[in-house]
Amino acid sequence: MINLAHQSGCVTCHAISGAGKGPNGLKPIGPAWQDVARKYGRDPDAKAALVTTVLNGSSSYQSHWKGEVSGVAM
Ligand code: HEC
Repeated sequence: MINLAHQSGCVTCHAISGAGKGPNGLKPIGPAWQDVARKYGRDPDAKAALVTTVLNGSSSYQSHWKGEVSGVAM
């Protein structure tokens, strides 16, 4: 999975754990995946929704991580 994420360019914006920081001390560009797991881990519908987001990208008008990351959409 980690190799796939590297080969797919995901780690440009995402870290695995929450330690990652964005440029100039800003919040990270995308949420750390451990934070994603914490947020959706108990939601049985999350897998389908997250797969759709990864395949299609996310909408800056419906940001799920507003204020928590410096990127507005994926
Ligand atoms: C250009 C930067 C960028 C790249 C590259 C990127 N992401 Fe993201 N990703 C983001 C941002 C920004 C968000 C937060 C979007 C939001 O607030 O809804 C995000 C959110 C997510 C989420 C959570 C979605 C949600 O609904 O909460 C997952 C899972 C994710 N990314 C996986 C991936 C994977 C897998 C890849 C590689 C195939 C990838 N990302 C590549 C910027 C990126």
